[in-house]
Amino acid sequence: MEGRHAYLVTARPDSWELALEDIRAVDPGARLGAAVAPGLLVVVSSRDPQTLADALRRDGPFVRHLFPIHQRVAGSYQAMAVMAAACEAAASLDASRPVAVQVRALMPGVAGEVRAAVTRALTDRGLAPVAGEAPQVLSVVVSADASWVGASPTAHNLSSTAGGIVGFSDPAAQVSRAAGKLLEAFRVFDLAWPTAGRALDLGAAPGGWSRVLLDRGLAVVAVDPAALDDGLARHPRLMHWRETVQTYTVRPRDGQFALIVNDMRLGAAESARLMRPLADRLDDAGFGVMTLKLHETRRRRQMRAALDALVPGFRVIGCRQLYHNRSEVTVALAKR
Ligand SMILES: C[S@@+](CC[C@H](N)C(=O)[O-])C[C@H]1O[C@@H](n2cnc3c(N)ncnc32)[C@H](O)[C@@H]1O
Repeated sequence: MEGRHAYLVTARPDSWELALEDIRAVDPGARLGAAVAPGLLVVVSSRDPQTLADALRRDGPFVRHLFPIHQRVAGSYQAMAVMAAACEAAASLDASRPVAVQVRALMPGVAGEVRAAVTRALTDRGLAPVAGEAPQVLSVVVSADASWVGASPTAHNLSSTAGGIVGFSDPAAQVSRAAGKLLEAFRVFDLAWPTAGRALDLGAAPGGWSRVLLDRGLAVVAVDPAALDDGLARHPRLMHWRETVQTYTVRPRDGQFALIVNDMRLGAAESARLMRPLADRLDDAGFGVMTLKLHETRRRRQMRAALDALVPGFRVIGCRQLYHNRSEVTVALAKR
């Protein structure tokens, strides 16, 4: 579609150039409108929100979240001006469906007030604002010298949370950032947790992912030369092979898995090369989740080489730099 659309785009601060590159792969004419904060960009594109979101979901790993901007309010934060902008943007929302109100304030002490004001404004217009997730979103970002407001179906934003920022109340995520990575992958890639069977956890130590898998009722085969946390090592549904995956995979086969996860601290291509033959051990309806650790330079090239290495065994469901990822991206896989 012709015309210009402005988007507020979120990426990891050290990946914003790659995120812009992702958008330019969809629309070579896209231009950077403003760098609002590290990892927060205004990008102007001729692609409409649906087209851009669909393309980035397929192949835009470094864009974590975006929303189409309906209104930019210049100047320092004024509650009335933001409320007025929210009301105008809300005109495009469906009054018969709930609306998630997502607020990010780049200065402290403002988010609560903005949320309350916008929630009131939407309620007065006959809409049904909610604090949690909903099929449509009213997004507000407030900085010291401007605010941006947008209204969109949640599916246009790539992630269902503000800026793709997620926290989990899951006890495993409370004790380990790594556990958050696995929980986030299931949520972002919309994977269904297996309800029974076995999971293979490669690079399992100290055990955050294994803990998540055990908590979901799965039996876990953990492979890592390093030790697991004490509490975990004695779990009756966990078997720990204290060796590398290279050693583990030459053993006689020990059955199939509903899930194969891999968080090994290895270069992306090497880890993918070790993962690929394990596709044979995955149930037909099973999933794989793995992190691709990327060295600082030529990150896209490393990622592509790893994805290519996986393809003979796996179909790639999704690949994205998640909120819990650092110098890595997370890949969701199904059996080919
Ligand atoms: C980032 S940690 C994994 C954290 C884990 N997912 C968790 O939730 O606790 C990476 C692990 O990969 C393991 N690792 C590195 N190379 C490996 C290999 N070739 N085979 C198996 N494990 C390996 C390391 O010993 C380390 O414990």
